[in-house]
Amino acid sequence: MAVKPILFQDGVCRMLDQRLLPTEEVWLDYTDYREVAEAIRTMVVRGAPAIGVAAAFGAAFGARDIKEERFELFFAQFEEVCSLLAATRPTAVNLCWALERMKTVARNNSAAPHTELKNILLTEACRIADADIEINRALGRHGEKLIADGARILTHCNAGALATGGYGTALGVIRAAVEAGKNISVVADETRPWLQGARLTTWELMQDNIPVTLICDNMAGHLMSKGEIDCVIVGADRIAANGDTANKIGTYTVAVLAREHNLPFYVAAPTSTIDLDMEDGSRIPIEERDSSEVTHCGGHRIAPQGVMVRNPAFDVTPARLITAIITENGIAQSDYSTALANLVKGA
Ligand code: MRU
Repeated sequence: MAVKPILFQDGVCRMLDQRLLPTEEVWLDYTDYREVAEAIRTMVVRGAPAIGVAAAFGAAFGARDIKEERFELFFAQFEEVCSLLAATRPTAVNLCWALERMKTVARNNSAAPHTELKNILLTEACRIADADIEINRALGRHGEKLIADGARILTHCNAGALATGGYGTALGVIRAAVEAGKNISVVADETRPWLQGARLTTWELMQDNIPVTLICDNMAGHLMSKGEIDCVIVGADRIAANGDTANKIGTYTVAVLAREHNLPFYVAAPTSTIDLDMEDGSRIPIEERDSSEVTHCGGHRIAPQGVMVRNPAFDVTPARLITAIITENGIAQSDYSTALANLVKGA
């Protein structure tokens, strides 16, 4: 049973602190939207769909604390709450998608009594959380049909239960293939600098007894050249209208390697990750994180003091390197511009 990293219990949003896994399993409690924003920014919770779910709870908590009863004034303050949450991480579009959905629900219930409107918003946040798991399961059912029995699958970063409401996108496809009785094994890139692969993907797959082998990021090409990988599946933080896909830094490198070795390269993501307003990947905002993530590893300095550092947290894989994009509404395999628009419409 895959872990659910965000729980809502007795008015409290509980999040599994992903900064401490796999060595410590600590749950933190949130009831204030500013603290939820900080949890997203500092990566207590991470992964595109999961930060969307967390932001929805943050928005509901922010709404609960607004005293103003006249809707126009209430909504102006609610928009400020949503803006603060939206500013935490720029690349994953699911964050803005969830907040837009919360704003739409508020507008659609503008005539509701003040207390009822706040309850409606909290219910919507719970709905977004629950729906995300169902979406992942649907995506998994579509995606597993692409996976052969016996497949050895390379994945990058963590696009698993921990990165979503539960079950996962890339790992959701893998879980669905296992549930369909296929004999699957996974190779997990460690994913420097934040080590989502080494710390999180291995942890959650081992909990489900799915065979997983950890490698350093620079080993993928070697394994491919030796015929030890059959396909690649990754998640996504934002998919542009033409299929260009932003995902964890290093994904692009893996896609180039997969093309060189004639291996299928699959992206698995909910339709909420597709940004039809973004024509192609060139304008997707790429988060740059603190240089200490590169100069340090496990709290230890590994580079000279004062060295110049770059730390882009994501890269963009061009659509031409992607074999298929798997969503809960079906699979896009070619002519992404038309196929993705149709999949989003089917949402
Ligand atoms: O910086 P992170 O850990 O939030 O980045 C996560 C990823 O890049 C995931 O692959 C992506 O969000 C998809 S998660 C289902």
